[in-house]
Amino acid sequence: MDYRQRKIIKSSFAIVRPRMKHMMADFYDRLFTRRPDYRTLFPDDMATQHVKFIQFFSQLIGMIDHLDSVNESCRVLGRNHAGYGVQPEDYDVVGVVLLETLENALGEEWSSDLATAWAELYATISSAMISASRQAA
Ligand code: HEM
Repeated sequence: MDYRQRKIIKSSFAIVRPRMKHMMADFYDRLFTRRPDYRTLFPDDMATQHVKFIQFFSQLIGMIDHLDSVNESCRVLGRNHAGYGVQPEDYDVVGVVLLETLENALGEEWSSDLATAWAELYATISSAMISASRQAA
């Protein structure tokens, strides 16, 4: 990701940040509509999951200019996910749903440049998670 992509990711995140709780509900609704089989992987009460996901993304965007320093926490997260039963192929649909959710939240502010930038960010994180989960297996 280049400087301009990191910049537009930061400004888009600032726009959705106050609506994050609503966005999380939308994200999991979309995910479980597309993949009802994923519902049983998660706890019944999703409140804590929403908070953890928001915290992770807040930290990530805060460190976006120094992504190398979050590589280790992505790897830990990837190993945890292997333990939850998440498979490498599950990351594609979550990435698609994440982008759809952002698009929906940003409305007119969404653009193809943002889509590319967020897709690159997701690819960076998910590939670190997947490679750690494969090594853990
Ligand atoms: C870049 C992609 C992803 C990110 C950033 C992410 C983030 C997180 C975070 C922060 C947690 C909280 C627990 C922890 O720290 O270990 C979590 C838990 C979880 N995630 Fe993900 N996740 C991603 C991809 C996925 C995928 C592809 C699935 C597959 C369905 C998934 C399913 C789960 C499940 C089942 C839990 C555990 C819930 C529980 O038992 O409390 N995640 N995720």
